[in-house]
Amino acid sequence: AQERTLSIIKPDAVAKNVIGDIYSRFEKGGLRIVAARMLHLSRDQAEGFYAVHQERPFFRDLVDFMISGPVMVQVLEGDDAIRRHRDIMGATNPKEAAPGTIRADFATSIDENAVHGSDGPDTAKTEIAFFFDDSAICPRTR
Ligand code: CMP
Repeated sequence: AQERTLSIIKPDAVAKNVIGDIYSRFEKGGLRIVAARMLHLSRDQAEGFYAVHQERPFFRDLVDFMISGPVMVQVLEGDDAIRRHRDIMGATNPKEAAPGTIRADFATSIDENAVHGSDGPDTAKTEIAFFFDDSAICPRTR
């Protein structure tokens, strides 16, 4: 089924200047970019976005990393988009990521792991709404 998912290119990958390479992997993988914005997250925004992790031991480091530089945020659309996007990213820990995935190619550690993607339909909805009004999403007309 057609789905939408939220994708973030994290500060490490933006710093490596590989936004275009990553976009190309999304497009070649059958995903369409239907909204995008670049921003430098505030601490409040990063804490809000990752609120589900606030009791985890890595929370503080995660927030510090996510505000260390600009991020590129996009909504991706396509058939089975959530799973497809996760396959293109590879495992959260780059040491476990399959060859040819974004994390295998660009991530250095589980903390600096290049990209984020929604993990299911409910989180996709919440995460998309965190960054984009409905009016900012541009479904294809051709
Ligand atoms: P992300 O998909 O953005 O969601 C939360 C992030 O926390 C995750 O990617 C990792 O970069 C980071 N993280 C750090 N340590 C862990 C861990 N032990 N388990 C899961 N995520 C972790």
